[in-house]
Amino acid sequence: MGSPLRIAVLGGGRMGQSHARQILANPDTELVAIIDPATDQPARQFGVAHFPDHPSLLAQARPDAVIVATPNDLHVPTALDCLAAGVPALVEKPVGVNPQEVDELAAAVQTTGVPVLVGHHRRHHPVIGAAKQYIASGELGQLVAINALWLTRKPADYFDTWRSAAGAGVLLINLVHDIDVLRYMCGEITSVVALTSSAARGLVVEDTASLTLQFAGGALGSIIGSDAAVAPWGWDKNSGDDPYFAQEPDQPCFMIAGTRGSIQVPQLATWSYQGQADWTAPLTRDQVPLPAGGALDRQLAHFVRVARGEVPPLVSVRDAGRTIAVVDACHRAARTGQRVDVTETADRLTAPPLQAAR
Ligand SMILES: NC(=O)c1ccc[n+]([C@@H]2O[C@H](COP(=O)([O-])OP(=O)(O)OC[C@H]3O[C@@H](n4cnc5c(N)ncnc54)[C@H](O)[C@@H]3O)[C@@H](O)[C@H]2O)c1
Repeated sequence: MGSPLRIAVLGGGRMGQSHARQILANPDTELVAIIDPATDQPARQFGVAHFPDHPSLLAQARPDAVIVATPNDLHVPTALDCLAAGVPALVEKPVGVNPQEVDELAAAVQTTGVPVLVGHHRRHHPVIGAAKQYIASGELGQLVAINALWLTRKPADYFDTWRSAAGAGVLLINLVHDIDVLRYMCGEITSVVALTSSAARGLVVEDTASLTLQFAGGALGSIIGSDAAVAPWGWDKNSGDDPYFAQEPDQPCFMIAGTRGSIQVPQLATWSYQGQADWTAPLTRDQVPLPAGGALDRQLAHFVRVARGEVPPLVSVRDAGRTIAVVDACHRAARTGQRVDVTETADRLTAPPLQAAR
């Protein structure tokens, strides 16, 4: 085993500190600095160097890798500077706030060859892996109907910061996770219809969204999400993934149904008929074995290998860009009242840059 990967965390807020704790707990990583223009308190708390901005970090400390946990609208510009300096990055979700800037970042990854992992950490969670595998096994038959819930009530002072301005909102902060993980488990989303509302909080960004999704395999889906609703349903409260949140472990956040059966996540409970499907007959409840373990530690272990060039990222910029294409389509659908096709924007992000004419 070589020396630990020397990582600097950009952004010393809630998520940056969560990453810092993960780095300290992993013997393959070393926390070298925390960058925050507003405060040196987190750096002092973790006993590491403080820099007020990432250009001074990159010039003076030259870490092996960085984790970008700044406000959403700074992810792409910050990551571009790190790539230009040859420093691999784990970029928090959302990878960018619109498909255009994600396109720019994807092109920079391609040009520089510097690896980037996007922080859709739920994909590293063993329960999501088990659900994805079960769906892929065909036990559910053909996917028909997919439902996701993410409902919580955040405190008012949560919105005293960047979280009340453009680039935030429940879609880009929270439902981006649900959209990403549904894509991961159930396949690509091809078109959307959406309603959003700011009525509960009165901010410029939406606090509530109701999304209707069409999947490439033909299934229809819905996501209902709100940061203003008191309710027990949502990955953070149901999965035990993050001890920051009080838990409601019996409640489901994803309900995925096919022609032969259904599965409830994160409990991994399944329902099917013993014989031929008959809506008057009792369903049999069964259980996919529940794997243990969390997501953030696995994500960091994976990032060490990505930064060293040993494996490709589980969530690349182009892949996370397809999730942003869905978010962008939801915003456009809500604005126009029209059904919006996702494929064109998403395919542009996935396609390699066009060759220059000879
Ligand atoms: N993966 C997850 O589950 C998850 C959870 C929470 C937040 N996030 C993401 O992490 C990011 C940070 O969210 P948060 O909740 O920690 O926000 P936060 O407001 O608590 O922290 C952000 C910090 O970044 C600092 N900052 C501002 N400009 C900066 C710059 N140019 N360079 C370095 N630091 C800068 C701010 O001073 C602040 O301390 C967001 O993109 C958010 O979407 C991800």
